[in-house]
Amino acid sequence: MEVHNVELVMSAVDPKQYPKTGQPEIALVGRSNVGKSSLTNVLINRNSYARTSSQPGKTQTLNFYHVEEKLYFVDVPGYGYAKVSRTEREKWGQMIETYLTSRDTLRGVISLVDGRHAPTADDLTMYTWLSYYDIPTLVVATKMDKIPGAKWNKQLSLVKKTLQISPQDDLLPFSAQTKSGKEEVWQWIEQHAFG
Ligand code: GTP
Ligand code: MG
Repeated sequence: MEVHNVELVMSAVDPKQYPKTGQPEIALVGRSNVGKSSLTNVLINRNSYARTSSQPGKTQTLNFYHVEEKLYFVDVPGYGYAKVSRTEREKWGQMIETYLTSRDTLRGVISLVDGRHAPTADDLTMYTWLSYYDIPTLVVATKMDKIPGAKWNKQLSLVKKTLQISPQDDLLPFSAQTKSGKEEVWQWIEQHAFG
């Protein structure tokens, strides 16, 4: 999709604040600092519309980006940031769980992992959880510009194996720097949002 028009419509904590248009939503989840906002910016052709973090762990609300007045990207606050208090973490967990399990308009989740390393225990927990709830998931291995092309396949296999990605889900390499993978990610989104 060629994007010209994006609007941050809502920073929501409470379900009452979620958009009411009934249009499809694609959520982005992943460790704090993994590159969720950067992926969002590439998808919507902006350099810094979704705020990339100088302060990891600071985003504590669901940010709904209305894209071409057709669908929403939902930027979910990152997990795994050590300096967040236990109370904050529990609040985060409840908000995410409520959203992911009860949102009718949610069509799929993009789960980001750092392509340079093996997925973390938190990444595995998140993916396992999404599978358990049967939420269609695209795993995106990001920051791929930081590893040489000759190692891509090996890294992707490691991600696939560590997360035990199920046959109905997909895995794609991505780089916000080179924009490699952008078209493939968009294809997945369109297929799941409108397919
Ligand atoms: P939170 O909002 O804190 O959860 O972080 P986030 O997941 O939104 O990460 P963000 O997009 O803010 O990126 C974190 C840092 O990683 C920034 O410095 C980005 O420039 C960098 N980054 C993100 N994606 C890539 C990528 O594909 N390649 C490279 N080289 N750097 C990236
Ligand atoms: Mg962010």
